[in-house]
Amino acid sequence: MRIGLIGGTGAGFFSSLEDSGSDVDEVEIQTAFAIDPVVVTVWQAHGHRVLFIRRHGLDAQTPPHKVNYRAHIAALKQAGVEQIIALNAVGGITAAGGAPGTLIIPDQYIDYTYGREHTFYDGQKMELCADLGIPESLQHVECSHPLDTALRSAVLQAAVTAGVAVTAAGTCAVMQGPRLETAAEIDKLERDGCDVVGMTLAPEAGLAAEAGLPYACIAGVVNFAAGRAPANSEGHEPSIHQQLDEWVAVCMTQSHALLQAYLQKLHA
Ligand code: HPA
Repeated sequence: MRIGLIGGTGAGFFSSLEDSGSDVDEVEIQTAFAIDPVVVTVWQAHGHRVLFIRRHGLDAQTPPHKVNYRAHIAALKQAGVEQIIALNAVGGITAAGGAPGTLIIPDQYIDYTYGREHTFYDGQKMELCADLGIPESLQHVECSHPLDTALRSAVLQAAVTAGVAVTAAGTCAVMQGPRLETAAEIDKLERDGCDVVGMTLAPEAGLAAEAGLPYACIAGVVNFAAGRAPANSEGHEPSIHQQLDEWVAVCMTQSHALLQAYLQKLHA
């Protein structure tokens, strides 16, 4: 099976998921949604072909609101992937969402972003939709359950196999960034029912839905959201950047173990 993997903050080392001895190739996929081709790292793992996109570019410098989500999803669709697993870094809002250093497999999100190219149905390039196998006439894709139920449950089973503790469901707020939130914004997100907050799950998940690709997200809680961190021994709230230094690597190691188990199970 061909599996699309889209990695965000800290996921640069994921090509170490390859089978020992398997080559890691870099391929460029031209899409109709960007001038430049999308660079995809491809390797073999447990009998599957993994196609990995670094969401923020090879130099990790593309901010969340400038990521070309359409080109990424189009590239994976053109390359024949059958499902997408996204890796996201998020801040923890509620205790239910999980503490920093843990993973959550969200089942819902709320999109607070604006101004992003968020649909293939923009009324202009419909003929390009046909090239992607997407119906050319306007579709209002259903998003009641925006993160694929079967894929999420396979990921959750793999977490058990891998012995990786995950929060099995929750709602992710998607903010515009790149600045982090104010404490008042986090209070509002909590009142809205959000457990964690990130910047990239939308429009990525919606575009995957439009492209007919099952999509699930493994989100690493890499900090307490703004205003939520308990005070340290000196009575200060640690800065979010201090927390990232501590937790990004932990979450990535956990995500890596979870993905290995997922790919191995998929093989069986
Ligand atoms: N807010 C928004 N996005 C994030 C955060 C956060 O606290 N942490 C990681 N991505």
